[in-house]
Amino acid sequence: MTKEYNVAILGATGAVGRRMIDQLAKSTIPVKSVKLLASSRTAGTILKFKDQELTVEETTPESFDGIDLVLSSAGGSVSKKFLPEAVKRGAVCVDNTSAFRMEPDVPLVVPEVNPDALKEHNGIIANPNCSTIQMVMALEPIRRKFGLKQIIVSTYQAASGAGQAAIDELKKESQDYLEGKDMQEDAKILPTKGDKKHYPLAFNLLPQIDVLEDSGYSHEEWKMIHETKKIMLGDMNAKDIKVTATCVRVPVPIAHGESVYFTVEDESVTAQDIMDAVADFPGVVLEDDIKNQIYPQPINAAGKRETFVGRIRPDYENKGAFNMWIVADNLLKGAAWNTVENAEYLVKMNLI
Ligand code: A2P
Repeated sequence: MTKEYNVAILGATGAVGRRMIDQLAKSTIPVKSVKLLASSRTAGTILKFKDQELTVEETTPESFDGIDLVLSSAGGSVSKKFLPEAVKRGAVCVDNTSAFRMEPDVPLVVPEVNPDALKEHNGIIANPNCSTIQMVMALEPIRRKFGLKQIIVSTYQAASGAGQAAIDELKKESQDYLEGKDMQEDAKILPTKGDKKHYPLAFNLLPQIDVLEDSGYSHEEWKMIHETKKIMLGDMNAKDIKVTATCVRVPVPIAHGESVYFTVEDESVTAQDIMDAVADFPGVVLEDDIKNQIYPQPINAAGKRETFVGRIRPDYENKGAFNMWIVADNLLKGAAWNTVENAEYLVKMNLI
């Protein structure tokens, strides 16, 4: 008999949580029951899973009694508080926050890239940062075939990476700007909620995602560096691939763009070889036809599970070096879909 799972979604009313409900409904996971969890703020909200109407409940440790699988996206501190409680009660958790990503005994997994890491789990699996996921999706086929030496990435990240409140803030600022009103007062969330100052994103660019550290880099930039190494090489401090990042918030609601410069070990590789490798990788779509002005764009990627890659071209001044452009829906492949996909693999691999 097929095993069926009692699933809890923690942070169910958020921008990612709502998409987790939808992705779970479309997944191959045999679901016995779904419990929707948030804080007292939205407890009582009615949300749909397939044709069932479910009432969102306030989260307590006891919420996880009888739960087999937790999908969580309610912020790092909430994960730290509740996921150990869920594990104690026998659940396996796939966590979309950064709370556990760098713990040595927590697998950090993009299923197409490092599915075997799931076998090492101790109750918690971490979903990587949205900007890291789409970058490793595009670069893993290149690493496998030609060896990767260095990655230099600049991101163009959508407002929704900072949650539903940031999307609402961007809309309000845009409206106020077009009506000739002052936008400064609207800025309460971005660049990062907990920091001292807030700036408008509408008609602007913010070169700060998450907090800035004394090193000169933002948290987000370090996440891209360490997570890429942990996913591709199994060690967050590995030196075999050099990675550096600049992360920028742009006034786009959904789907991140990334400009990536990378060097490969095999210097005889051509741009066509790179395109062929990328096109063959599951979950990646090559959109690269410059004669017909075809390249990935956020408005086309929003709502899709795939990672889109284009503008692949050699650096004519350096052998074995290339530029590419990557776009993916940060709320789906960058968050909700990668989380549910990890859970699908856990089920298929009999790891729950
Ligand atoms: P709530 O709105 O009830 O606080 P987003 O990333 O879009 O901001 O969404 C965050 C999600 O995390 C929401 O569903 C939010 O629910 C939930 N959340 C925030 N704080 C808590 C908490 N302390 N306990 C449980 N869920 C929380």
